[in-house]
Amino acid sequence: MLFEINNLHIGFESRTGFAPAVKGVSMKLGTEKLGIVGESGSGKSLTARALMKLLPSQARIEADKLEFDGIDILSASEKQMRTIRGKRAGFILQDPKYSLNPVKTVGSQVAEAWRAHKGGSKRAALEAAINLLEMVKIRDPKKVASSYPHEVSGGMGQRVMIAMMLAPDPELLIADEPTSALDATVQAEILRLIEELVSERGMGLLLISHDLPLVSHFCDRVAVMYAGHVVEEIKASELLSAQHPYTRGLLNCMPSLMHPKKRLPVLTRDPEWLK
Ligand SMILES: Nc1ncnc2c1ncn2[C@@H]1O[C@H](COP(=O)(O)OP(=O)(O)OP(=O)(O)O)[C@@H](O)[C@H]1O
Ligand SMILES: [Mg+2]
Repeated sequence: MLFEINNLHIGFESRTGFAPAVKGVSMKLGTEKLGIVGESGSGKSLTARALMKLLPSQARIEADKLEFDGIDILSASEKQMRTIRGKRAGFILQDPKYSLNPVKTVGSQVAEAWRAHKGGSKRAALEAAINLLEMVKIRDPKKVASSYPHEVSGGMGQRVMIAMMLAPDPELLIADEPTSALDATVQAEILRLIEELVSERGMGLLLISHDLPLVSHFCDRVAVMYAGHVVEEIKASELLSAQHPYTRGLLNCMPSLMHPKKRLPVLTRDPEWLK
């Protein structure tokens, strides 16, 4: 197993008391593609961040099991976590703009990521960086390598982030809304790229997204989250015909070009789902 989460609880201490956010989540992943869907605030990002021990400092966390490849995350030291984060597991976030350094060229940043993991001379690293940019299907890698982050488009920036993340050959890729800042065509291209890299390199993928058809297309299994719980976990191919009322509700709230609705329904909720 790449990771195993059993009965994970995350909450926040506040002036008004303790506020739970993730309430007993369990999921595991091997060399496969697992999606997490669910409305905003349902606990998707917190669950993924817990795996990398990247939670806000006020967060309180408990679990029966929280393991990355058999390593207990809760008791792991910061030093141990650094051998996992960005090395054995890559994290792709929504907007690459916040993760790239604006005053350094794209090539030098990818080269630095390479050298941090593989060592070698600066020149060799720059060559490796150009190879990585080619691997993420950037057509003119030399030109892009000499550009600054503000000179590349959002889709290109996300490719650069993926290239940086590939430098250490990670076993797991966590992508938290990797394409929601991009337009639909670029979205599909980036996901196709992620899918290709994941299957070519035999990586595991945890893909968080609001886009149910997309998750159903790209993943093997899907966990549907609601208010800090996983309300169901199903085969991705069965997601669009899911029977759970919450999942059906999410599906019904999607705008559709094929079956336009005058008004999108409001999602109904039932306390029974949390039992
Ligand atoms: N730093 C924080 N302090 C207090 N509460 C927080 C904090 N971060 C998250 N939460 C709580 O945890 C809940 C879940 O957050 P999380 O980021 O996991 O949601 P999400 O499912 O990823 O939503 P989105 O789809 O909007 O990204 C939030 O609704 C919020 O109430
Ligand atoms: Mg989130």
